[in-house]
Order: sequence, then structure tokens, then C-alpha cells
Amino acid sequence: MVDATINVICICGSLRKASYNRMVMNALPALAPSNMRIKEAPPFAEFPLYDADVEQSSGFPAAVQGLAEAVRAADGVIFNTPEYNFSIPGGLKNAIDWVSRVPNQPFAGKPVALQSAANGVLGGGRMQYDLRRSMIFLDALTLNKPEIFIGNCSQRIDAKTGEITDQATVGFIRQQLAAFATFIERHGGKR
Ligand SMILES: Cc1cc2nc3c(=O)[nH]c(=O)nc-3n(C[C@H](O)[C@H](O)[C@H](O)COP(=O)(O)O)c2cc1C
Repeated sequence: MVDATINVICICGSLRKASYNRMVMNALPALAPSNMRIKEAPPFAEFPLYDADVEQSSGFPAAVQGLAEAVRAADGVIFNTPEYNFSIPGGLKNAIDWVSRVPNQPFAGKPVALQSAANGVLGGGRMQYDLRRSMIFLDALTLNKPEIFIGNCSQRIDAKTGEITDQATVGFIRQQLAAFATFIERHGGKR
């Protein structure tokens, strides 16, 4: 029998414990369609800065291989990330750069969805276009719509409880996860 479960991993672009993006990520399982399982990807916090000399001399650090294999094994990947200085947070970009160097790099053909929470009014929109661009280079299949930009996030997410209090935001996330499930069913396929 074919397993209809869709396994998705989330990569959180913020390292801080009280991250709003992490709160959004943690809210996703309850908002996902019933056939979608969502869990956090292995961490990238310990990745060294990408250096081709390190790659040449020592190969890929175990943590890089762990994330690369998790991406490869997943049916889809969701990025939950803030915008830093109008672009991709450096730690996350470094993680993508490392994973992109793994042979048969795992983002190729991988369904990807983007979500960002930021304190600016645009909710990380500028970062998302840069992240989309990196995903284009990696031949990922990035969901176009619905887009999730949670602007003024401290007013829509309760920092104490981690709950998304803005019901319109909750609705948009539900819609995106449903669309992502359909997108994966149409275009997914593990490599
Ligand atoms: C280095 C840095 C750069 C930032 N740049 C932006 C930015 O370009 N646009 C924006 O909306 N917010 C920016 N912010 C504010 C973040 O939106 C805010 O700190 C947010 O809470 C970070 O996400 P997190 O809660 O998941 O860590 C920046 C914050 C930091 C620390």
C-alpha cells in the first residue's frame, strides 16, 4: 500500500530561543492537513563558515551531512526565517551553501515553501525573494502562492505563549500548508 503521509521538515533561520519564527514553526503541526507530518530539521548552528579548503581537506562536517540527508529524505521543506538587513540571515545562508555542495545536492527537485515573520511591516518579503533566488539556483521547486509574510510579528504572535494570536495569519498559514500538500502530491518525488 502506498503511504499517503507527507513528511515535511522545517528549517528555522533564527537561532535565538525566543524567536518568533520558531514560534510560527512550532504552530505548524496543528495547522497542517491531516496527512502532513511536520518536524524540525537537524540544526545548523554548529556549522563552520563555509570554506572550500575545509571541504577539500576534511570533507563535509557530520552536522552538514545530517541536514543534507534530512532534506533528501523529506517530501518537502519549509523555511521559517526572519529577514536580516533586507536579506537571508547569514547563518541560514551559510547552511544552504554547505548543503548545496553535498554531491547530488538534496534541494534539486525538492518542494519548498517559505514563511517569514519579521518586525518590519513587509514581514520579510525582501528576504524571501533572495531565498527564492537561491532555491532557483539549486533547482528546488518553490511554492509560489499563498505567500506568508508575517509583518509586525510582535503584534500577531504572543511572545509569552508562542501562540499566533492574529486569526487572519492563522488562516493564511492553513491555506499555504494545504496548498503545499497539493503541490507536493503533484510535483514531489524523493531523489
Ligand atoms: C541583524 C538583524 C537584522 C535585521 N534586519 C531586519 C530587516 O531587514 N527587516 C525586518 O523586517 N526586520 C529586521 N530585523 C528585525 C527582525 O525582524 C526581528 O528581530 C525578528 O524578531 C527576528 O526574527 P526572530 O524573532 O525569529 O529571531 C533585523 C534583526 C536583526 C538582529
